[in-house]
Amino acid sequence: TRNIDLAVVAGDGIGTEVVEQGLAVLEAALAGSDVKVATTEFDLGARRWHATGETLADGDLERIREHDAILLGAIGDPSVPSGVLERGLLLKLRFALDHYVNLRPGKLYPGVKSPLAEPGEVDFVVVREGTEGPYVGNGGSVRTGTPHEIATEVSVNTAFGVERVVRDAFARAQARPRRHLTLVHKHNVLVHAGHLWRRTVEAVNAEFPDVTTDYLHVDAATIFLTTNPSRFDVIVTDNLFGDILTDQAAAITGGIGLAASANINPDRTAPSMFEPVHGSAPDIAGQGKADPTATVLSVSLLLDHLGLTAEAARVEAAVAADLAERGSRVRSTAEVGQDLAARVAD
Ligand code: IPM
Ligand code: MN
Repeated sequence: TRNIDLAVVAGDGIGTEVVEQGLAVLEAALAGSDVKVATTEFDLGARRWHATGETLADGDLERIREHDAILLGAIGDPSVPSGVLERGLLLKLRFALDHYVNLRPGKLYPGVKSPLAEPGEVDFVVVREGTEGPYVGNGGSVRTGTPHEIATEVSVNTAFGVERVVRDAFARAQARPRRHLTLVHKHNVLVHAGHLWRRTVEAVNAEFPDVTTDYLHVDAATIFLTTNPSRFDVIVTDNLFGDILTDQAAAITGGIGLAASANINPDRTAPSMFEPVHGSAPDIAGQGKADPTATVLSVSLLLDHLGLTAEAARVEAAVAADLAERGSRVRSTAEVGQDLAARVAD
């Protein structure tokens, strides 16, 4: 038997509801196999912050580190000032565990309604850099609150950081049928970082000669995501552009209720973390209305990362089959989870 130690950070709002279903589907996917999952729940998020003032204590981080993977629901609550949990918990996990590949598939499953009239075949992945860019917290504000305030938020891009994520994106492109990589940046304005990304893609391309590449400024990329999303295979981009593009990608492929993500440490020096792209949705929390599909697809990414590729494929196939028949039926969070678990068990 193989034992998998899974850290569970259900978090805030609908996070707990969707994670419960994600875990049920994970159990179903591994039932009857010799793989056993042991979960450790971490009480992190708004409740913990209110109770103790802690976002992510060193002890929690070190215990999380000992696990094979992390399943995260959602972080954030209106009762906590904006940025406290985002920076102090979610981004701290991504940075501390060196999740430099933030993988976000943009796939339109058959039967899913896109807001685009003629979306065509949409099946791409965004490789969003996860540990650098404007997210590093390198900035400040002087004369705060006065008409003379100056606030900076410096985007940090290192050759080391850009090269490793670009190499990962090339490898992913090479493993896909179309073998195409699009760099998205804004090098006509952000000339320092932009040209570092451009030069890096050119250089690493030599190691992957069978991968074709092109380049789009981020503003143009948003147009093509709307007018011709089929053109994309693998997109590589920085942390902030990737954040924005992946919400747009979710919107055109059925909404954030379906959008999965993996925060991957490809070197496996720390556990990778799997989470739906959506947030804690306080407006519908506790009502059993949230769609757990994004979390279930994130569980598929988790299984894949752990080398359980057949199980990962079964979970994705269960979601695809459910989506194909879903139509406009309204089910509760638990009902969707149960239906998916039943399909996986079949
Ligand atoms: C996401 C979220 C986070 C991000 C926030 C909550 C810090 O929007 O996972 O896309 O910006 O990465
Ligand atoms: Mn986001």
